[in-house]
Amino acid sequence: MVKRIAVLTSGGDCAGLNATIRSITHHAITHYGWEVFGIRKGTTGLINRPLEYVPLTVEQCDSAVLRSGGTMLGSTNKDNPFSFSNPDGTRSDHSDDFIKGYQELGFDALIGIGGDGSMHILRQLAQKGGINLITIPKTIDNDLGETESAIGYATAVEVATEALDRLQPTAASHQRVMVLEVMGRDAGHIAIASGIAGGADVILVPEIPYKLQNVYNKIKNLTESGRNFALVIVAEAVRDENGEPVVVSMQGERIRYGGVGHYLGEKIIEATGADVRVMVLGHVQRGGQPNAADRIIASAFGVHAVDLIAQGRFDRMVAWKNRDIVDVPIQQAIDAYHSLQLGDVLVRTARGLGICLGDQ
Ligand code: F6P
Repeated sequence: MVKRIAVLTSGGDCAGLNATIRSITHHAITHYGWEVFGIRKGTTGLINRPLEYVPLTVEQCDSAVLRSGGTMLGSTNKDNPFSFSNPDGTRSDHSDDFIKGYQELGFDALIGIGGDGSMHILRQLAQKGGINLITIPKTIDNDLGETESAIGYATAVEVATEALDRLQPTAASHQRVMVLEVMGRDAGHIAIASGIAGGADVILVPEIPYKLQNVYNKIKNLTESGRNFALVIVAEAVRDENGEPVVVSMQGERIRYGGVGHYLGEKIIEATGADVRVMVLGHVQRGGQPNAADRIIASAFGVHAVDLIAQGRFDRMVAWKNRDIVDVPIQQAIDAYHSLQLGDVLVRTARGLGICLGDQ
């Protein structure tokens, strides 16, 4: 029997989403002979009327799509169907609209590409509406449990590493301290990985409490040893010295981080007299072409997700473990939030290299 499957991207975009959509489309059509439909703007495409969706073809998902940034389907990181914002500013439960939309289009299964927040919502929808759901992990923050890597993380690390590569020569030319603020929400994975790869002298992550004095000491020691520049990388959710988060704004219950780089820069100027410049990398980490590693896991995830549908195994998230694809219950992945552990190989490596993590 020909299956009709739907795919949507939900939450913040990242590099590698189009490569995933391409992989799903190719495998479902060429291997199984199914029909594939893309839902536009995350869950919103099945809530809005008329329904917003598009048939996907192999021709459309060519290799240009494999290398492209963003998501060809669009996404949302603020519209929860269970508390959906209406045009008049009120919020109400539109989950039934989503489920009816899904049923109207006669889908047999749904593949949701998202982070933990999106997976939680998709799972609630699937349970309420009897939807056969498979999820694929994506998040530059790489904070989802049960998978070593989520789509978008490797590219974000590469972008942040390149930023340090570019900051270092100008820092050395002008005898400056460069502070680079990177994304990652409450996890320090991007900061520590790119900090090591990019030769940072100081790496501050939310999981390791720091003392400003340790940062000052590191910079002073570098200067005294004859080094004429320093590179500091800080994750956006690192708190100020009073333990307060540094935020741009609150959007409902969602914090928008931003500003800790400038906070730190000012403190370093005050304490050391160094010439400091601050760069906030922001959404550059999410946009642009996926790197090879992200294209590879995106392709492998897409194929495995389609195979799970063929096997009738639902409520599973595909995952990357020990250079292989496995699958786990979606809830298990959501529950196993993956913050940076103190015993993590990257923490040990950073300490081994003499990089200051702020705690000593
Ligand atoms: O979760 C991914 C992420 O890029 C975080 O690293 C960052 O804090 C946030 O999303 C930014 O979200 P927005 O696109 O709403 O500014």
